[in-house]
Amino acid sequence: MSIFRQSARNPMKTPVSTPTFADPRATWDARFAQPGLLFGDKPNAFLEREAQHIPPRSNVLSVADGEGRNALFLAEQGHAVTAFDISPVAVDKAHKWATQRGVNVDFHVASVDDWAWIPAAFDAVAAIFVQFADPDMRRELFGGIWQTLKPGGLLLIQGYTPKQLDYRTGGPGKLENLYTESLLRELLPQAHWLLLHEHEAELAEGHAHAGRSALIDAVARKPWTAKS
Ligand SMILES: C[S@@+](CC[C@H](N)C(=O)[O-])C[C@H]1O[C@@H](n2cnc3c(N)ncnc32)[C@H](O)[C@@H]1O
Repeated sequence: MSIFRQSARNPMKTPVSTPTFADPRATWDARFAQPGLLFGDKPNAFLEREAQHIPPRSNVLSVADGEGRNALFLAEQGHAVTAFDISPVAVDKAHKWATQRGVNVDFHVASVDDWAWIPAAFDAVAAIFVQFADPDMRRELFGGIWQTLKPGGLLLIQGYTPKQLDYRTGGPGKLENLYTESLLRELLPQAHWLLLHEHEAELAEGHAHAGRSALIDAVARKPWTAKS
């Protein structure tokens, strides 16, 4: 298990996007510095349901993984998991939690802007509630994810739809950061969609995602013929 500090993989890259917060690392660090686990101690329920599509012993990347609930779940399914997040506080908590559970995850502190998206490196990528990304960052983020997926690889996404602005039970509260089916189709035009479904459900993921929520679940396969 290793923790690489900020920008270890691609230190010279210039950010191309405007963050949602003036200082996203400090904002998320302050949130994660509170006692307990911001998004709870269970994996995201959508990921738990849909992880069955990931072939055994896959190389999986969990982007903006937070305190590790999803990385740990994937590792306990027998996958080789790499995870990164902008918040050193969250990654420290994830690292300690993994040690307690005797689980091996390759954790990194990195932002979307400085992560090196190695071409065709992963069999699957989990992008669970990564809606800190505004449209510019979202293009960069999903471009990177697509590049780092192997041909035939799977992308699992859960996010909020614009209807979530009526509920405000989690999420960024910014219309431009939210997803619709058509937005995801446009963002990933080569994807073969195994699941693309807007719906509503009660979430109970710590105190940050709690209550009636307007969600989108998506599982996409990168075509076998696709170039990275
Ligand atoms: C809503 S939380 C979701 C965390 C995790 N995916 C989960 O489901 O538990 C969003 C996460 O994105 C991280 N984050 C925010 N901006 C980021 C950025 N520019 N690059 C990488 N991670 C970022 C935050 O630190 C936080 O952990």
